[in-house]
Amino acid sequence: MKTAIIAHRGASKIAPENTMPAFKLASKIGADGIETDVQLTKDNIPILIHDETLKRTTNGQGYVKDFTCDELKQLDAGAWFSDKYVGTQILTLEQFLKWAQKENSFTIHLELKTNIIEYKHIESLVLEQIKHFNLENNTIISSFNPQSIKQMGHLTTKVETALLLSQRTKKPLDYVKQIGADGLHIRYSLLTKRLVEESNQHTIPIRVYTVNRPTQLMRCYKWKCNGLFTDVPHTAMEYQQVY
Ligand code: G3P
Repeated sequence: MKTAIIAHRGASKIAPENTMPAFKLASKIGADGIETDVQLTKDNIPILIHDETLKRTTNGQGYVKDFTCDELKQLDAGAWFSDKYVGTQILTLEQFLKWAQKENSFTIHLELKTNIIEYKHIESLVLEQIKHFNLENNTIISSFNPQSIKQMGHLTTKVETALLLSQRTKKPLDYVKQIGADGLHIRYSLLTKRLVEESNQHTIPIRVYTVNRPTQLMRCYKWKCNGLFTDVPHTAMEYQQVY
């Protein structure tokens, strides 16, 4: 089994995260998957940005949820990264899925950012778009919020889900089963060989975030994790080739 290399927020080490340049680079590099973060605008449009606030990755200020999609589209989401990307816009989920459907070369990982701010109905709004582009078989939905995963499970059984875990939990695989998630996405520092073996036994896919260092990458390959999220998909692929 080959560990899937998933570009975390696109090829986010070499282009501004969660923007079209970062996604295009990840696709060009040949990443097996592309991960992105979904939040809702004031007018309930799914949009791709990691932080709940605008400050770090745009020239705006305040909370994503307080602006309409049109207002957010006016912002620059590339200048903070480098002059080369001045004028890069925030993307809607719709724009991303339309492009991803055409590319048809990678698995789509959508993290529903509904753990710090609760976005009502984000699950059904996102699912509607996945269905519109006929991408149910090619998308994995994840969240740190177990309620969101449960809700997605009520809405559909056709889209794979995964629980994100950042904290030590007694029996993580039991927890995954209990909330009805298909897979486990776990922080690298929580990864153990035993957990990978157990997840394989239970046929629960285990994917690890965020894996950038060579020693960490090699460990994920050696232990046969199902996938890893990385800011450096180009490096991850090079190491996988020599592994
Ligand atoms: O989905 C994996 C990883 O992206 C989770 O961490 O902080 O980037 O949302 P974070």
